[in-house]
Amino acid sequence: MKTKQRENTKAEGKYEKVRMTFDELQEKEIPIIWSIIDFSSNIPLSIYTDSTVVKTSETCYRGSMISEESRLIGEEYLLNAKKSSIDISLPIGTFSYSSLAPRASLSFRHYFEEEIHKQNRAIKLPQYSNVTVPIGAVIRSRRSIRTFSGEKLSMKELSTVLYYGDGVSGFFDHNPMGSFETTESLGDDYVSAVRCAPSGGGLYPIYLYLVILNVDGLEKGTYRYMPLTHSLEIVRVYDDKDIEEYLSFTNLGREIDMDKVGVAIYYVYNIYENSRKYDDMGLQFAMIEAGEISENIHLICTAENLASCDVGGFEKAQTEQFFGIDSLTEHIIHLTLVAKR
Ligand SMILES: Cc1cc2nc3c(=O)[nH]c(=O)nc-3n(C[C@H](O)[C@H](O)[C@H](O)COP(=O)(O)O)c2cc1C
Repeated sequence: MKTKQRENTKAEGKYEKVRMTFDELQEKEIPIIWSIIDFSSNIPLSIYTDSTVVKTSETCYRGSMISEESRLIGEEYLLNAKKSSIDISLPIGTFSYSSLAPRASLSFRHYFEEEIHKQNRAIKLPQYSNVTVPIGAVIRSRRSIRTFSGEKLSMKELSTVLYYGDGVSGFFDHNPMGSFETTESLGDDYVSAVRCAPSGGGLYPIYLYLVILNVDGLEKGTYRYMPLTHSLEIVRVYDDKDIEEYLSFTNLGREIDMDKVGVAIYYVYNIYENSRKYDDMGLQFAMIEAGEISENIHLICTAENLASCDVGGFEKAQTEQFFGIDSLTEHIIHLTLVAKR
């Protein structure tokens, strides 16, 4: 009863003095207060950082000013990205990569998708739902949901999630002034497809790999979303052993039951598809773009009453191997689960 009363006053923003003994203070209050001070104090340096056997994130943090060995890779990255205004490599790269090149490089994607269709390795997705729920209410009510009913997603729901996540929603003319000549090889079409989520330079270096687990009308397996034709490439249909293998290394915590997931959406970044233009900024852009796609997915799931949850705890190397991607040019950078509530 007493605790409840105190919770209420806290919720109202009122705090009362509470009498306690020194032992109670030491036992109950000091450890948590100390951990907050420790976490929030600026840089708690440690001279033991380099002699610690396991390089934890905490040892890197404590050694950040004095250690040469225990650096976070992220710190190295940020220290070396956009070093100063006299480092002109990025502007040169960006400037010299004209808009013709993206147009040309993106046309290969069309050929790639057409080829998959010709080989009968594509599944056309049905028309997505025309979602008209008010955006403000959707943004406010979005939550990460980790408990699922285990019911199957419909193909239409999958189509809707993928379309609003990363589907083609318009076209961009790279030649509005008509300054590029018509050529025999490229014709006069300098228009490229643009998507629901933004992408630096319109280069779209992120590919959505799907582990389909519970979708009505689709066999369990690895698929790849093809935005230009709004369809799926069948990468591999699983047998029982494949499913067992996938689930054996995909343990995403106690709360998440993978058997009930509809689709696990992996964001695979192809580093050379935007780093040629953006140098090391390419990585930064890819991370941002993955976030933009995933937020689109969360919002559309909220609007469609589906569950979605981002997951940072996936097994990167094992999943890449399982997908058959090379882990050099292509890397999984994020994962979102989608399921029926
Ligand atoms: C990059 C990223 C990684 C995440 N990883 C996990 C995860 O591994 N497991 C999990 O249950 N939730 C994960 N989440 C979800 C967060 O826990 C969640 O967004 C946060 O607690 C805020 O709750 P909300 O999304 O309901 O607003 C992740 C979120 C992001 C953005």
